[in-house]
Amino acid sequence: MAVVAKGLEGIVAAETRIGDVRGQEGVLLYCGYDINELAGKISFEECVHLLYHNHLPTKAGLEKLTTALRAERELPQGVIDYLKSAPKTARPIDVMRSAVSMLGCYDTDRHDLDMGKDMANGIKLISQIGIIAAYFHRARQGLELPPVRKDLSEAAHFLYLMNGEVPSKEAEQTLDVAYVLHAEHGFNASTFTARVVASTLSDMYSAISAAIGALKGPLHGGANEGVIHMLEEIGSVDKVDAWVADALAQKKKIMGIGHRVYKVLDPRAPHLKDMAIKLSNQLGEPKWIQMSERIATIMREQKNLNANVDFYSATVYYSLGIPTDLFTPIFAIARMAGWTAHVLEQWADNRLFRPLSEYTGKPYGQKWVPIEQR
Ligand SMILES: CC(C)(COP(=O)(O)OP(=O)(O)OC[C@H]1O[C@@H](n2cnc3c(N)ncnc32)[C@H](O)[C@@H]1OP(=O)(O)O)[C@@H](O)C(=O)NCCC(=O)NCCS
Repeated sequence: MAVVAKGLEGIVAAETRIGDVRGQEGVLLYCGYDINELAGKISFEECVHLLYHNHLPTKAGLEKLTTALRAERELPQGVIDYLKSAPKTARPIDVMRSAVSMLGCYDTDRHDLDMGKDMANGIKLISQIGIIAAYFHRARQGLELPPVRKDLSEAAHFLYLMNGEVPSKEAEQTLDVAYVLHAEHGFNASTFTARVVASTLSDMYSAISAAIGALKGPLHGGANEGVIHMLEEIGSVDKVDAWVADALAQKKKIMGIGHRVYKVLDPRAPHLKDMAIKLSNQLGEPKWIQMSERIATIMREQKNLNANVDFYSATVYYSLGIPTDLFTPIFAIARMAGWTAHVLEQWADNRLFRPLSEYTGKPYGQKWVPIEQR
């Protein structure tokens, strides 16, 4: 008998060796490693290797991957021209989605599902997605686009392109840890979207443009931007209680709180919370983290809901001086690792996704009536 599961809750849609979210225990696995075992210990580049090859790299393996990523740091001129000419008021996540789609037009062999070649396309996307976001941010301010460099890590390179100067080691490490924490998360909405598109044997660029579209929504990756808008709207710690009470009375969702799968604490949140506390105190602006803590406490006590990954990542990015509308693009930069790994896994053992639906429309047997008589 067909099962109806709204939002596909509880449905296992396919097998994966890449990641697992164990909601009752609050455990997130990347290829068998607990995220707590990896966060702060591996670089984003090592994380990409883990997700692609199912094991952590040796020094030689890491060097090979790093070289491959850095070799892809030149965007086609047509994409650069687009980033310069896109409306300055456009949302960076929309420009990113469109630019990824454009990249597909420059890859003329993209319909050739050769495993090696598609892995190369994944590497290319991981390498180029951050450049797209940083370049658009520069271009919309009328600033020069700094030439790409081959000597910086993925995290440092993004900050360098965005600000036009090499970041501090601390800023690089903070973003690097955030990238690792956001790199993979099982069959979340955007990853599932990428796999659905890939399952039609469409190409990597189509799968990833669709995934970015899914990530953008405020119920998914867009929540981190919503958190900062909420904190700005509340304004100060003494106003939190009244603001949250009012929002809950109006049945509004509090951004960065709650999760479909985690019924206990999202294991990524404490890492981001620690970083947010440190950075806010260093900046001498503790009010953001104080407001966040109060919101999290109220939501835990009153609704039994916990902060998720987006709740504290917002304050981390804000403290790094990253503009709010780049928060979701940064999520996309990190998740590109997981998305592309999942697309490759889908193709390795493909079956078209094609669920059923429960029909609730008019009864069978409606009769056609000529248009003049309707
Ligand atoms: C993540 C999310 C979409 C999960 O949604 P879901 O599994 O479909 O859960 P539901 O929306 O059905 O919520 C279940 C209950 O918790 C409440 N709830 C869930 N998240 C809430 C939130 N952030 N604020 C207020 N109430 C919330 C719902 O109102 C609902 O209550 P009810 O049973 O009294 O109607 C949801 O928690 C949410 O919208 N969170 C805010 C957006 C966000 O941070 N997204 C990033 C996720 S990583």
